[in-house]
Order: sequence, then structure tokens, then C-alpha cells
Amino acid sequence: TGMVTVDPGFTNTASCESEITYIDGDQGILRYRGYPIEQLADSSTFLEVAYLLIHGELPTPAELESFTDRINRHTLVPEGFRAFLSSFPRGGHPMSILASAVNALPTYYPESLDPHDPEAVELATVLILAKIRTITSYLHRATRDEPLLYPDYARGYVDDFLRMTFSRPYEQWESDPVLVAAMDKLLILHADHEQNCSTSTVRIVGSSNANLYSSVAAGINALSGPSHGGANEAVLTMLESIRSGDDSVETFMKKVKNKEAGVRLMGFGHRVYKSYDPRAAIVKKHADAVLDRLGAKDELLDIARGLEEIALRDDYFVERKLYPNVDFYTGLIYKAMGFSPAMFTPLFALGRMPGWIAQWREMMSDPQTKIGRPRQVYTGPTERAYTPLEQR
Ligand code: CMC
Repeated sequence: TGMVTVDPGFTNTASCESEITYIDGDQGILRYRGYPIEQLADSSTFLEVAYLLIHGELPTPAELESFTDRINRHTLVPEGFRAFLSSFPRGGHPMSILASAVNALPTYYPESLDPHDPEAVELATVLILAKIRTITSYLHRATRDEPLLYPDYARGYVDDFLRMTFSRPYEQWESDPVLVAAMDKLLILHADHEQNCSTSTVRIVGSSNANLYSSVAAGINALSGPSHGGANEAVLTMLESIRSGDDSVETFMKKVKNKEAGVRLMGFGHRVYKSYDPRAAIVKKHADAVLDRLGAKDELLDIARGLEEIALRDDYFVERKLYPNVDFYTGLIYKAMGFSPAMFTPLFALGRMPGWIAQWREMMSDPQTKIGRPRQVYTGPTERAYTPLEQR
């Protein structure tokens, strides 16, 4: 079989060619389909970006309207599925429920399963983008024993997400346009990031010709880990523990630098970015505006800024080129909006869904695609003879 080399963590192995997302980690550049993330975050909406990632071009007004309309018409979840969603124990982690829910969805839509039928794939795409919004809003409500709300077809994707998440049944709800814009921006920033852990997972699952739902559900599970999407929740736990006085900023940083019990500065460092994560720069700029708007002055923001200031001057971080990543400041905004920390990673999943779908679709239509099947270098015993049980 020829020579194989081991590349732990795939630091030096490209698994595919892709036209979707470009990252220059040294210069802190991120582009979706050629468009700079700063321009998309400033001027676009989440569904426009979803369309761009999945179909390759920005939609015309008519295309966006029909895409939005199709998604809106599928936002309701079946009654039996509601019962399934509400069958999890209170306090169960929303990421476990979300992955289970997306995994279970196709049992209701067998007509959308064939990975090689373009119409079925388009239907699955729309169904997943529609249902994940409803499911995510319910994950928040479930933590407070509140019922799932029915969607309002006339509203925009993010507007109705906020309404389904935060309004009371039958309440006349007006979303704050500043918060809709902020949420749109956050979802856009998370929408794709080329071959990260969860996206590679989605691709490798799909490479066996597994259906889109099974593939993106696997992505949700990969995202849940604290080294990946779970970092946004872990950042808040870290900031809270500093505020509560378990550690001062200085003693905490000492632990990080001494690598005590594997303590890391959560929300810092990135495999690809060796300069400031452009997504973090945008989030940081908006954290103030959103917190001001909500009148939610948060001591944790000062602690976060303090940690960043120390880290950017400290040799340990400078030598290793560790900068804040997208997860460092997002949780503070989500918290100010009214989400509990356990909801932060599901919000990341909601944002990343268009990217996972786009990458899966690109892979499925790429003639170079083969089943993902890495090799290994075997280091176990050489051949030895079986010893009968009574002789051991
Ligand atoms: N705090 C302290 N030290 C760190 C950190 C950190 N956050 N990140 C990396 N290092 C050190 C690490 O100990 C190693 O030091 P040494 O050279 O002395 O052994 C060096 O920097 C290189 O780290 P690595 O673990 O080899 O780098 P990686 O590319 O394998 O890991 C990472 C990337 C993101 C997993 C890592 O930086 C990390 O654990 N960060 C904290 C968790 C986090 O914020 N994750 C979110 C990533 S961004 C968005 C997302 O995917 O969700």
C-alpha cells in the first residue's frame, strides 16, 4: 500500500478542494465565496449569506424572497416531533437535544433522503434550515418549562427566531431592530469556516452516502466539544469563576501559562488564525453597542477585556500567536440578549448550519469525492500465538 505518514490533527493535510470559504490565517482574512466577512456582516442578512454559501452567488431579490418563503412555510414541526422534543429531562444539555432532534427529523420526511436526487437535497436543505430555528427557540423555552410557540410566516428568519424564543404565548411581539441586526451579524460570522472539526465530520459522514440530516447531526456533536463550538459556553464559565473570586485574573493567567491541569484561556487560540480572528474583531466592536442598547452593563465584559489586554502583551501568548477567537466575546452578547450559557453552542450550530449544508452539497457533487477512510501506522504487537484460557 506504499508509504503512509501520520499527521495528528491533520495540521498539514488538505482533505478536499473547496470553492466556498477562504481563510488567510496570517493576515486574518475570511471570505465567503470571495466576499469579505466584514462586508457581509455589515450589509447582509443571515438567509442571504446562507443562500450565498449554498448556491455560490448572492441571491437576487426574487431568489431571496422565494428562498425565505420556502423556509418559512416549513417552520412548523410535526406534533409527534413536539412530543419527542419535550420528552427530555429538564436541565438536559441543549446540544444533546439539538443533535438528537436533527438526527430524528428525517423520519418525518423520507422523501428528502436521497443524497443523489437534487430535488430531495434541496428539500432537505430547506427543511433543516426551517426546523432548526424552531427547535433552537424551543431549547431555550424548555429550560423554563415554557411551551414551543408556533411560527409566524410573515416575519423574517431572525425576527421570528427572537419572537419564538422570548415572547409569551399570544403576546404582541415587536423585535428590537438593533437586536435583530446583531443576531443576524452573529449568525453570519458563524456561517462557515472551511474544514474545521465539525465540517470535516459532516463531510466524512456524508462520504459514506449517509443522508444530509445524519451528516449535519454528526457535525452538531463535533461542535459540542469545548475545544470547538463548546468554547463559547466555557468562556462564560471561566469569566464567572474569576468574578466569583475563585481566581483573580493574575492567578488564573498563571495557571494557564503553567498549563496547570490543562487550564487554557478559553476563547483564545486557533489552528489557522495566527493573528486576530477577523470574526472576533467584529464581535468585540459590537459587544459594547448591544450591551448599551440592552442597558446590560456586564462586569464580565471588563474581566474579558482585562484578560485580553494581559494576553496580548504576554510572552506566552505572543510567542504562540494566541489571539481571541470568535468565541471570546459572543457569549457576553448572547447573555445580554437573555440566553443562558447552555444555549450559546446551539446558537453557534444554528449559525453554522448553512456552512455544513453547503460543504456537504459541494462534496456530493464533486467527482473527486471518495469515501473518507484514513490509514494508520500500526504500533501494536506483531503476530503471536493464542494461549488457551486455562494457561493464562
Ligand atoms: N490557552 C493557553 N494556551 C494555549 C491555548 C489557550 N487557549 N491555545 C493554545 N495554547 C498553547 C498550547 O498549549 C500549545 O503550547 P506549547 O507549544 O507550549 O505546547 C500551543 O499554544 C499550540 O496549541 P495547540 O493546542 O497545539 O494548537 P491547536 O491548533 O491544536 O489548537 C485550539 C487550537 C483552538 C484547539 C486551541 O487554541 C484551544 O484549545 N483554544 C481554547 C479553546 C477555544 O477557544 N476553542 C475555540 C476555537 S475557535 C472557534 C471554534 O472552533 O469554535
